[in-house]
Amino acid sequence: MRTSLPETGRGGAAIGLAILSMRSADDALASAALAVRENAHAPFSGFRVGAALEDSGGRIHTGCNVENATFGLTICAERAAVFKAISDGARDFRRMVIAADSATLTPPCGACRQILWEFCRDIEIILINPRGGRESLRLKDLFPRPFDASFL
Ligand code: THU
Repeated sequence: MRTSLPETGRGGAAIGLAILSMRSADDALASAALAVRENAHAPFSGFRVGAALEDSGGRIHTGCNVENATFGLTICAERAAVFKAISDGARDFRRMVIAADSATLTPPCGACRQILWEFCRDIEIILINPRGGRESLRLKDLFPRPFDASFL
């Protein structure tokens, strides 16, 4: 007996709204990553990267790469975003968008994967470029068999 038609209708609307709000949260995070990329200090490589990290409260923490003449002291966009977030008191994270202008979407480097695992665990990592490219991954797949405090 189909007694639940009206409820199904409301459920459908609720799901639609949830998808819409997920999309706009996604857009906000992607826009933040693209915007902070404009602040990149990359005079040596010319490769500009932006990262936007969403915490469990929905707050967005951004970072760009900041290069250094010694090269080795350069900090990547992802680590800048994580360290800014931690400094601001955030502790639980949901996902990060990483924006760079490369045809093959730019994944986080090894050092950033370690730092992301340390502070964010298995979050969603979304890679984008300004031409509309997008790919969603889990950190666990990018960084299998991690070393962390559980070994100490
Ligand atoms: N870079 C990032 O900021 N994130 C990445 O995921 C890859 C590399 C930066 C570091 C350096 O400033 C430039 O890109 C070239 O390696």
